[in-house]
Amino acid sequence: METKIVSVDSEVDNVRNYQQAVDILKSGEVVAFPTETVYGLGALATKREAVQKIYDAKGRPSDNPLIIHIGKKEDANLYAVDIPEAAQKLMDRFWPGPLTMVFHKRPGVIAENATPGFETVGIRMPDHPVALQLLNMLDGPLAAPSANRSGKPSPTEAEHVYADLNGRIPMIVDGGQTGVGVESTVLDMTTEPPAILRPGGLTKEMIEKVIGPVQSEGKTEKDKAPRAPGMKYMHYAPNAPLFMIEASETAIQTAVQNLHKEGKRIAVIGPEEFSIEEADWYFSVGSLHDYDAIAANLYRAIRQCDETEADVILAAETEASGVGEAIMNRLTKAANGKRYSQR
Ligand code: TXA
Ligand code: MG
Repeated sequence: METKIVSVDSEVDNVRNYQQAVDILKSGEVVAFPTETVYGLGALATKREAVQKIYDAKGRPSDNPLIIHIGKKEDANLYAVDIPEAAQKLMDRFWPGPLTMVFHKRPGVIAENATPGFETVGIRMPDHPVALQLLNMLDGPLAAPSANRSGKPSPTEAEHVYADLNGRIPMIVDGGQTGVGVESTVLDMTTEPPAILRPGGLTKEMIEKVIGPVQSEGKTEKDKAPRAPGMKYMHYAPNAPLFMIEASETAIQTAVQNLHKEGKRIAVIGPEEFSIEEADWYFSVGSLHDYDAIAANLYRAIRQCDETEADVILAAETEASGVGEAIMNRLTKAANGKRYSQR
């Protein structure tokens, strides 16, 4: 299959490009498109065969439910029941935006394989003009996971989608680099208090300001098995082993020197302020305390490391607060928990 990339910006015939994408979706095929977090791979959520093509293209385990994307807040009621008052408040405050809420599923509307075996459904309204335009022209719900091959970092540019899915999907709608860079926060609204199943673009602090305390996944004994099934798979595994390291210029310099003595070539992901001249590759993700920039550039940097011949990747840590919680969550996964320590 040939993968066509169409651009949507002020220079081109946007209406025709959108219409092509919508026609493909209506015919039961998949289309990759930008959201404010990462690129999604969308299919009409009410069509079983269309949804199946998402799992096939990504190589995604078929027991991992998909997020349903909607173009209007009210549409949440079409796919979910018993939406609590607190969720209404969060929608009013943060939709469109990087917040997915898990509700009790309205039976018989969404294709069964979009939420395989689940009584619940995750819904979000993305804050991106291209995604919203597609949803409004389609006038239907889009099931859409991140548009990467399973095991790769989520794509934040159309080129990343192309690298992963070229030949596997008919169309990529190119809307430039995404803004947030990490995926949406997944919040389970079926428990009391609600529980964050995946930290993401919307911070815990912001949610708590609106509805009071929420739980974080994994903090209680009964939460040992992750309730967002996607969190149990190893994600974002780069080609070379990745180690997290304290965000200190001297600590990274020393680590690079030590690893060089072992004959290893080193790629470093770190802030723009550091100058680690001995690193074989240095990928700057933004200013030390600008976590929004670090989140926006993190996945690109991990992909760039994969294009090098590095034997080891070192990635500077952030504090686990604000969007730093999502950054550290993704880094910990990419590192499979490994931290570099001086021997
Ligand atoms: O920002 C995002 O959320 C992006 C863009 C494209 O919207 N989408 C995304 O989808 O990251 P995906 O499929 O890569 O990750 C969805 C996560 C998975 O961890 C999945 O297990 C969880 O959300 N999830 C989806 N529906 C759920 C449900 N009903 N109950 C629990 N977890 C759910
Ligand atoms: Mg994903």
